[in-house]
Amino acid sequence: MINKVRKAVFPAAGLGTRFLPATKASPKEMLPIVDKPLIQYAVEEAERCHIKEFIMITGKSKRAIEDHFDYAWELEENLKSKGKDAMLEEVRRLSQHQFAYIRQGAPLGLGHAILCARPFVKDEPFAVILSDDIIDPDDDLLEEMIHIYNKYEATVLALERVPKEEIHRYGVIGGTEIKNNIFEITDMVEKPKPSAAPSDIAIIGRYILTPDIFEFLAKTQPGKGGEIQLTDALKALLKKKPVYGYLFQGKRYDAGDKIGYLRATVEFALRNPGVKDQFREYLLSTFSSIMSNKES
Ligand code: UTP
Repeated sequence: MINKVRKAVFPAAGLGTRFLPATKASPKEMLPIVDKPLIQYAVEEAERCHIKEFIMITGKSKRAIEDHFDYAWELEENLKSKGKDAMLEEVRRLSQHQFAYIRQGAPLGLGHAILCARPFVKDEPFAVILSDDIIDPDDDLLEEMIHIYNKYEATVLALERVPKEEIHRYGVIGGTEIKNNIFEITDMVEKPKPSAAPSDIAIIGRYILTPDIFEFLAKTQPGKGGEIQLTDALKALLKKKPVYGYLFQGKRYDAGDKIGYLRATVEFALRNPGVKDQFREYLLSTFSSIMSNKES
């Protein structure tokens, strides 16, 4: 099947206040999970879906992202001279794609960040990937969403059921399941109180958007938190065009939050061939000392 989604936008201009002071002078997107920064997991997810153009929305203190995906000839020469071929290959692989960087002058919200990508996206459907939502690399969420886009040629949002006590942190949808895990969305509310939420199904950080979203974003006024919210633009789009959702059943880590970040670190370390055995032993001994302290 021809992949109709060739471009991906990576909004990475947020302030990352939940990780201060770590994010004062360096980007949240460069926080590592074991040995890879968050943004690299996101780029690799797009690569697996045969996305060809990578558009990064950056801002103040985000230059490390550009360097990370650029050639690093001194480093490459050094690795080459030491015969570290596998590492050399890994470092080189990152700079093989075409990246475009757009600066969002001020962090006016996710909706505004996406609007900044308009001159590069032009008249094509595109994926939006929030790198602080890590999807387990064994799950094919984005690929499924692209299949749904290829069929309906309409906006597709990634959805997940969330516990009631977390609902106020998300955009929440109302809608009907038209097929296994595919929803036709009829309503959306940004960060509702549990009593005002249309369901327990939240929008998570993957979107396939059509270029007509830009018109709606351009008209969207600042909403919750004084930011231009993508959910508000999607809500306006919904009145004119169908919007679909795909209910994700796999594993997601909210690495924009400290606990989610720590969970991802532990679980990825337990799978990393270089550290998993030693790390597992460490965890087991830590666990048994926690348990014996509890009992004494
Ligand atoms: P978050 O809501 O996680 O905000 O943004 P944040 O600033 O990154 O982190 P906190 O809440 O202050 O800790 C969701 C995504 O949207 C991007 C962020 O970089 C992140 O990928 N974003 C947010 C922008 O690119 N621009 C913005 O103005 C706001």
